Amino acid sequence: MSRLDNKVAFITGGSRGIGAAIALKLAEDGADIAITFTSAAGKAAEIVGAVERLGRRAIAIKVDNLDAAALEAAVNEAHHKLGRLDILVNSAGVYSMDTVDTLTLEEFDRVMFIHVRASFVAAKAAAALMGPGGRVISIGSNLGEIVPFPGLVAYATSKAALTGLTKALARDLGSREITANIVQPGSTDTDMNPANGDHADGQRARMAIPRFGQAKDIAGLVAFLAGEEGRFITGASLTIDGGANA
Ligand SMILES: NC(=O)c1ccc[n+]([C@@H]2O[C@H](COP(=O)([O-])OP(=O)(O)OC[C@H]3O[C@@H](n4cnc5c(N)ncnc54)[C@H](OP(=O)(O)O)[C@@H]3O)[C@@H](O)[C@H]2O)c1
Repeated sequence: MSRLDNKVAFITGGSRGIGAAIALKLAEDGADIAITFTSAAGKAAEIVGAVERLGRRAIAIKVDNLDAAALEAAVNEAHHKLGRLDILVNSAGVYSMDTVDTLTLEEFDRVMFIHVRASFVAAKAAAALMGPGGRVISIGSNLGEIVPFPGLVAYATSKAALTGLTKALARDLGSREITANIVQPGSTDTDMNPANGDHADGQRARMAIPRFGQAKDIAGLVAFLAGEEGRFITGASLTIDGGANA
């Protein structure tokens, strides 16, 4: 038996980047997979195909994290189509950079809704369907703990808020043997933050290991938390950033 045989995982933002790597890793470990996407339908279909080639079932659901009712419905749809729900990974995210003097309320709300409100909505819907051994894993950021440059009001606030949500979920769900944890990546080579981007050298200069992480590095930690070995880890913030915050 592989570690996640007979488990079902629901991953928001599973069409690209870190979420896609998590979908593939959890499938490799034996889980059936539901992913969400907003615009990258072709990429989402590629991930579904890759999961199926691993011998697991997969579905992709188009749902915007801004639409709470649709997100709740997507969690229920995954449970209905795949038969159960064991692992929720809140990975969908957007980068937003603006300083407090020009950041609009609309942009602040958008980032908070996509990262924080949607993670609450998905966790509430998923927890109602999970049994003992359930896992809620949210992808935060090392920028939720240390803010090393200006322009991060919306992004850093939202990722820091995910830590509070995670701790509260851990307290609410622990008696049901459901864990909740936050994984905080640092610079990771994806469309959001390419290793050859304009600001990449500055990021590398902050790191103890001066290179970008790969999405599969983050996926490995998520898989550990999702597996049996992670059963007593809850309410934890796990930073995986090549030592940038050290
Ligand atoms: N890359 C980094 O350096 C880094 C560092 C720390 C934390 N993170 C966090 O890691 C997570 C994944 O980031 P990434 O680097 O993999 O980004 P990415 O490559 O840009 O992928 C973003 C994913 O989120 C989805 N998404 C975007 N807006 C959405 C919305 N409104 N509703 C639902 N899904 C939405 C995208 O779907 P579509 O393509 O279909 O739109 C895509 O699947 C994010 O939470 C990010 O904040 C990333």
